[in-house]
Order: sequence, then structure tokens, then C-alpha cells
Amino acid sequence: MRITELRKKIGKTDLYIKDLKIESGLIHGLVGPNGCGKTTLLKLIMGITGPDSGHIDYEGLKPSDITMMSQRPYLMHANVYDNIVYPLKIRGMKIDQSEIDCLMERTGLLQIKDQYAGSLSSGERQKLSFLRAVVFRPKMILMDETMSNLDQDSEELFKEIIRERHDEDGSTWLIVSHQWDAMNELFDKVHHMDKGRIV
Ligand SMILES: Nc1ncnc2c1ncn2[C@@H]1O[C@H](COP(=O)(O)OP(=O)(O)OP(=O)(O)O)[C@@H](O)[C@H]1O
Ligand SMILES: [Mg+2]
Repeated sequence: MRITELRKKIGKTDLYIKDLKIESGLIHGLVGPNGCGKTTLLKLIMGITGPDSGHIDYEGLKPSDITMMSQRPYLMHANVYDNIVYPLKIRGMKIDQSEIDCLMERTGLLQIKDQYAGSLSSGERQKLSFLRAVVFRPKMILMDETMSNLDQDSEELFKEIIRERHDEDGSTWLIVSHQWDAMNELFDKVHHMDKGRIV
């Protein structure tokens, strides 16, 4: 993906990305202080919000190839399991039950698969939102600060699954994180943002 001359004025922030290449098949980090425009950039990539000007070349990626895990995940009013398989259902994809059970088992969601998603703890929500994102094997995954509610073991597990999926599918990851020490080893490339610019 290539982002050129992308501009978005939002509140007092003037986001301007002159030229950013997000090479496919790599795990990218996106770091920068609160309010510098990281979430806004991800929303622009997802098309949730439109730019004032500029261009994003998706290089053949379709909207359905990209998914975003948001800082505050929106969950469906349904149980854990139904939330996880929803992306497969809407795409008419086959449900591989043993693979889904294995993912739920690893993240500790298997025992609570019938629980109402709205009653989950914040860490459990992040796990659900993570599985929902990886389950349909998208080509690009955007993660917005979604590891901050995780305990140490769960954080390691997320990193393990990200690496696995990356190696198996050649997927591209763009991960916003403030946990520099913990995440640095995962990133192939890191983009630093400050005051709406890549610096
Ligand atoms: N709808 C809006 N109206 C006015 N200002 C907005 C709006 N949405 C975002 N902003 C402002 O734009 C700036 C960038 O917001 P953004 O959410 O992209 O920051 P961020 O880098 O993701 O920060 P954080 O690390 O805290 O998540 C912030 O100063 C924010 O207050
Ligand atoms: Mg943000």
C-alpha cells in the first residue's frame, strides 16, 4: 500500500502523510504520542473516514481483504462464538470448527463461548476482537493499541499468533502500540508519527 499527500484536518490536528509505503508481507509498527493521529490514519486506510485530499493506492487489496481491531472494539449483541464466526458467515466462507476451537482454546475463550459478549472483561473483549480479525485470514490487519489490556502471557500469545499468521499467510500487519519494549521485537519496520506527520 502506498499513501501519498494524504491530508485530513480534524479538530486542531492537521494530518499530512507525504509519502508512506506499507510494504506487503511485513509486520509494521506505528508509534507516536497520544493525539498524534495514529487512529485517524488507520480510519483513513479503512475508509471509515475520508481524506480532505491525497491518495491511498491499495495495490489490489479489496476492502474485504482488510480488517481493523479498534481501541474500543464494537461487539455484536450475541455470544462469544457467534461474534467470532460472523466474519466467515458474511463472506460465505467455510467454518473450520477444529481451527476455531483451537484458537478459542489457546486464548481461553472456549469455556466461555456461550457467554454474552457484552459481559466480557476488557482483556477478554480484546481476545474476542483479535480472533474475529484473524479468523478469516485477511491480507491486511490493522491493530489499534489492542494489547494494552492483556496480561503478560496473553500478550506473548498474541505475538505468537501474529507471527504464525504472518508466516502462514504472508499477511501484512500495521500495529499501533505504546508498549515499545514488548512489541519492538515483533516489528519488521517501525513508522514514527508526531503531530500528524511521519517523522
Ligand atoms: N471528531 C473529532 N473532532 C475533533 N478532534 C478530533 C476528532 N477526532 C480526533 N480528533 C483529534 O485529533 C487528534 C488525533 O486523534 P487520534 O485519535 O488519531 O490520535 P492517536 O494518535 O490515535 O492518539 P492515542 O495514542 O491517544 O490513541 C487528537 O488530538 C484528537 O483529539
Ligand atoms: Mg488512537
